Amino acid sequence: MSYLLGSVGGVTSSQNPTARADELREAIEHHNRRYHELDDPEISDADYDALVRELRAIEEQHPELATPDSPTQAVGSAPSALFAPVEHRVPMMSLDNAFSFDELLAWGKRMERYISGEVAYACELKIDGVAMSLLYEGGELVRAGTRGDGRVGEDVTANVRTVGVIPHRLQGDHVPAAVEVRGEVYMPTASFRELNRRQEADGGRLFANPRNAGAGSLRQKDASITAGRNLAFWAYQLGALEGAPRFERHSESLAAVASWGLPINPEATVVASLDEVHAFCERWLQHRHDLDYEIDGVVVKVDSIAQQRELGSTSKAPRWAIAYKFPPEERQTKLRSIMVSIGRTGKATPFAMLEPVFVGGSTVGVATLHNEDMVARKDVRPGDTVIVRKAGDVIPEVVGPVLALRPEGLEPWQFPDTCSVCQGPLVRLEGESDTFCTNLDCPSQRAGRIEHFASRGAMDIEGFGEQRAHLFTQRGLLGDVGDIYRLTRESFDGLDGFGDVSIANLLQAVEASKSRPLPNLLIGLNIRHLGVTGSRLLARAFGHLDRIMAATAEELAAVEGVGPKIATSVHEFFASEHNRKVIDKLRDAGLNFTGPVAPDVAQTLAGMSVVVTGTLEGWSREEAEEAVKARGGKSPGSVSKKTTAVVVGESPGAAKVTKADELGVPVLDEAGFAHLLETGELPGQPDEPGEPAPDITQP
Ligand code: IVH
Repeated sequence: MSYLLGSVGGVTSSQNPTARADELREAIEHHNRRYHELDDPEISDADYDALVRELRAIEEQHPELATPDSPTQAVGSAPSALFAPVEHRVPMMSLDNAFSFDELLAWGKRMERYISGEVAYACELKIDGVAMSLLYEGGELVRAGTRGDGRVGEDVTANVRTVGVIPHRLQGDHVPAAVEVRGEVYMPTASFRELNRRQEADGGRLFANPRNAGAGSLRQKDASITAGRNLAFWAYQLGALEGAPRFERHSESLAAVASWGLPINPEATVVASLDEVHAFCERWLQHRHDLDYEIDGVVVKVDSIAQQRELGSTSKAPRWAIAYKFPPEERQTKLRSIMVSIGRTGKATPFAMLEPVFVGGSTVGVATLHNEDMVARKDVRPGDTVIVRKAGDVIPEVVGPVLALRPEGLEPWQFPDTCSVCQGPLVRLEGESDTFCTNLDCPSQRAGRIEHFASRGAMDIEGFGEQRAHLFTQRGLLGDVGDIYRLTRESFDGLDGFGDVSIANLLQAVEASKSRPLPNLLIGLNIRHLGVTGSRLLARAFGHLDRIMAATAEELAAVEGVGPKIATSVHEFFASEHNRKVIDKLRDAGLNFTGPVAPDVAQTLAGMSVVVTGTLEGWSREEAEEAVKARGGKSPGSVSKKTTAVVVGESPGAAKVTKADELGVPVLDEAGFAHLLETGELPGQPDEPGEPAPDITQP
């Protein structure tokens, strides 16, 4: 049976609630097993939650359909036979969920009406790991059990003993005679990445996310495997407690747990109002990716134990706590097809065409698959149900297929051997991971090359962007970059959207580009492996394009900083008859072949590190980064204590801005960036030492 969520949303439930409730129960039990026992869920948490919510809604509308063994009444899944059973002294309960602030506030208000007195709330991060109960007797760790069905879990003591942050013996003067400390075993994201890197190198199974990796690592028969997985733990709740004074507040109990030597999450805090609870949730919704571990929400608990008692529990969850769940960053959807796009270098990049799905704050319909090996490694096939992930400002990614939902007879995807645009051959050289369309005349490549030639980092032809480059190429106005300089007023006859003024402006911009210095021309020619630095070095060493064209590969490679790979590529480029013809056109048009005309750029940013995030008006991200590097600075992809400034454009990466904020790194807008490039100083930076720096952050 397939448990695909075609009917999530409950369309069928109103038609036949009995049948739908049965269907949902069976599906939920199936997914419980996949998640809790097999550590290999078939559906995302968000899709699972939707099933449970739908079943709960049916049971509320039709109480006669509610059964005592319904999964809405149970916690987790029965323990597997892999490990010995362990009975919890106090059952491990689950939590009710709130999927929006409104639901969270409604819970809070309901509760405040019910109980007497002021309510203080303990706000904690909801760690996305595996719930664990640690039993200490006489201060010694004697047993560690998973949650299981809440009453009986699995004995994973040997494995848990390998988790470095979990003490085998409690410390301090007030250690209770017996105590169950509950918390979450998790895998830090850095360890997860490292583990997947190792798995990939060894040809092993890749884990979809840190939770699955953590759960899989914990539930090993061989504890030495767990030991190598760098798991960690946060404690967040007490179970049974004997031989110790009762605590009056949950927060006090956690402070005691910390004093016994167990790790308590440092972000936990107690607040006095629902407004502050709301603010805590908002804050962590924004900052979740700044952490070194995954969280999937916030847990809010009534801090007073007396009030907790007043509220009590249902069979499954306490009424005094709730989990506010963040909107999902992983969803599943259908992979409709895999297409291949051809870039300006001819690189053929496969990408996934997806049934659009709302994930991580936007609708995702396409996602790159990078290259042939990536498709093979992920083994995604058109027709598969796939997991799509979009976290923070990271580009959307196809994590992998849901194998259990793969229709029968689905064939692995084959990389095409011809280009879909020009029908020329697609070639993958031995030892390389990329595949190329080798037909230099391919319209897709041609348009890409022309667009690149005109771009800001190259010949900087104003008004000659992607759309126009592709339009003019399609209309046959341009065959290669040399044709740009053969455009006349008449070339645009019959082209919609081109008035006298825009044509004049465009021709003027084309004319102006003729004087760009040699490095720009070299960059614009789109020679494989030759980037900004190499172009500058060659221009400086040879001074004229003709001398570069006449040089042997060895002579080119002799330039300090130009390796044999670049040298060979440059030499081959100019050996091509086709390319020489293009150069002749440029020569005839009177382009500047010399340089660098402009003096070397002043090294204003030497020793500085400037991170660029978001879209700037006047620069592409690459250009902005290049501008930093050209001035002697570094432009890494992430913010750290060493970052001099973060340049923020439209739609910046929230995590970067937040990190800058936290570390006190200055945030610059585009004007501030221009100032920094020119002067090497932060805008408004005081001349006199000691003067307070003005606020230069973006509004
Ligand atoms: S308290 C009776 N606090 O979320 C209260 N749970 O969906 C028991 N979780 O089973 C849980 N972080 O595995 C609590 N700070 C936190 C948590 C947390 C993660 C997990 C835990 C629990 C599940 C409920």
